[in-house]
Amino acid sequence: MDSPIDVRPGLQLRLMTLEFAPELFALTVRNREYLARWLNWAPYVRELNDTATFIEARIQQYEAGLGPQFCIFYGDALVGVIGYHLIDKSNHVAEIGYWLAEDAQGKGIMSDSLKALIPYTFEALKMNRLQIRVATENHRSRAIPERLGFFREGVAREAGFNAGHYDDLVIYSLLKREWAMGQ
Ligand SMILES: CC(C)(COP(=O)(O)OP(=O)(O)OC[C@H]1O[C@@H](n2cnc3c(N)ncnc32)[C@H](O)[C@@H]1OP(=O)(O)O)[C@@H](O)C(=O)NCCC(=O)NCCS
Repeated sequence: MDSPIDVRPGLQLRLMTLEFAPELFALTVRNREYLARWLNWAPYVRELNDTATFIEARIQQYEAGLGPQFCIFYGDALVGVIGYHLIDKSNHVAEIGYWLAEDAQGKGIMSDSLKALIPYTFEALKMNRLQIRVATENHRSRAIPERLGFFREGVAREAGFNAGHYDDLVIYSLLKREWAMGQ
């Protein structure tokens, strides 16, 4: 699992480690304002140590069997992150979150990265349900689970607080049996 996941030629998911901290920090700082509309942690990344602390926590999460976090490489450049929120082992439920640099949008990088993690979620992690929660107004992000055939379940009212706004979140899910039927 520590080996990279080849998503498509020139696009790779690499397990997040501290060696990526400087590049990830620089990417976050460059994209801070753009990310802050949808990701409430973005304004608080101010020093390299903030990114290093985040990575350390994600490594502990992975080592506890609660899901990995990946840096997304497009060619040789780190362009974003995709990974699991703490997985619910008792109920076999996983949730994925993601972000891309602003200038890496529009190339299918995230849709293909998420698609690559679907078999990993159901086979390696042995989950039954994969969910994604997205603010109703975040149209680019909503397009990703919709493109991949996730089921739109409903809206959790004001379940997110980003950039001073309470956002309604649309909940999308994919079940193992639905994915298996499409194989
Ligand atoms: C959400 C986010 C990852 C979406 O990025 P994105 O580039 O639109 O998504 P993808 O990488 O899947 O690319 C899809 C786009 O590439 C195009 N594309 C090109 N090749 C493609 C391919 N092989 N497969 C799919 N789409 C492709 C699609 O047409 C689409 O473009 P369009 O929006 O102009 O129609 C990005 O906007 C982001 O990080 N936003 C800020 C943080 C955030 O909102 N995170 C999510 C919180 S829930």
